[in-house]
Amino acid sequence: MLLVNEVEALRGYVKGWRQSDEKVAFVPTMGNLHAGHLDLVEAARQHADRTVVSIFVNPMQFGEGEDFDAYPRTLEEDRAKLQEVGVDLLFAPAAKTIYPSGTGQQTRVEVPDISDILCGATRPGHFVGVATIVCKLFNMVQPDIAVFGEKDYQQLMVIRHMVNDLAIPIEILGKATVREPDGLAMSSRNGYLDAGERKQAPALYRLLRETAAAINSGAKDYAGLERQALKDLEAAGFRPDYFVIRTADNLQAPREKGETLVILAAAYLGTTRLIDNLIAA
Ligand code: PAJ
Repeated sequence: MLLVNEVEALRGYVKGWRQSDEKVAFVPTMGNLHAGHLDLVEAARQHADRTVVSIFVNPMQFGEGEDFDAYPRTLEEDRAKLQEVGVDLLFAPAAKTIYPSGTGQQTRVEVPDISDILCGATRPGHFVGVATIVCKLFNMVQPDIAVFGEKDYQQLMVIRHMVNDLAIPIEILGKATVREPDGLAMSSRNGYLDAGERKQAPALYRLLRETAAAINSGAKDYAGLERQALKDLEAAGFRPDYFVIRTADNLQAPREKGETLVILAAAYLGTTRLIDNLIAA
């Protein structure tokens, strides 16, 4: 596996593959890789001849007082995992390679509306940071296909809108959330949980499943279901941020019969913010 830090070298390798008519798939990450990330890599490998993974803890998507400094950086372990699953190239740029003039001077990509609700309301500027770095990495790697997790459902929607609006010629593939045996969605942030919090954490997914089951058996009082779930989250030891039932395609409140719905939740256990979601039907 090639380990590349500079854009010019990255472009050189990708250009060579393209000249041999090889299809390139890309998986952007912030590292501290777990089985969820590796599942995206596996999908990438199945859809292309060459697989590129990036590891970059993107300062632009972290707000003031968030966990940018604490975010786990485990490049050596990550590199070994990627090597083992047959990744062709790991792109691990330094912050100055991506933001030579700092993040303040960086041209921004803003996907309207969808960036300002839910996680975007709690984390102002987060999705501008995500859309900007993903757009920039897309231009650096120039893949045919890029793979993202449904775990970050709103992020996946933001990327799909961006690619559509800016006519970026990259196919976006979404992959189902990989979970621990007790249902907790795998996340680099799960490592912040202490033993007691780790025991409480699966309640988030349990409540998503219970709400999905209620909707599937015909419940229509979505506001009532949301209120009940918020209460149950508190009873399970969480400090809820949101628990909502929305349309799966644009994350708006449900209006018509027969729309596909997604249940999305964010909640704190101690200082750790966990997110999860489930398609209702
Ligand atoms: P990161 O949190 O490292 O996640 C990288 C990719 O892995 C994302 O597409 C995310 O949705 C996916 N992922 C995380 N946990 C998963 C799980 N349990 N099952 C399946 N997929 C999972 O998301 C980011 O990084 C960043 O915002 C990034 C897109 C790299 C931009 O900086």
